[in-house]
Amino acid sequence: MKDIKSEVEKCKVQVLVCTNERPPGKTCCFKYGGQDFYLALKTRLKQEGLHNTHWATRTGCLGFCNDVGTTVAIHRKGESSQWFNEVTATDMDSIWKEIVRE
Ligand code: FES
Repeated sequence: MKDIKSEVEKCKVQVLVCTNERPPGKTCCFKYGGQDFYLALKTRLKQEGLHNTHWATRTGCLGFCNDVGTTVAIHRKGESSQWFNEVTATDMDSIWKEIVRE
């Protein structure tokens, strides 16, 4: 087992994006844009040079499935987590502001 604490301490903000996919007929974040949102966020973090300190992580079901958009959780060092669901591509700028605020 390897201790990766020093690697993890580089992370200021971790954003979880549900990309869970279920069989046809069942609701899931993949169906409502979770994967696309995750990829767009990852690309934006890289373009802005923030990807080493602001991590985007795709996840399985976070337990807030809906038929509108994906579920997103923002974990920031030293603060309570922020959770959003029904997140769609049109919410990217709002989520982005929460991610990059100091
Ligand atoms: S499938 Fe995304 S929260 Fe359940």
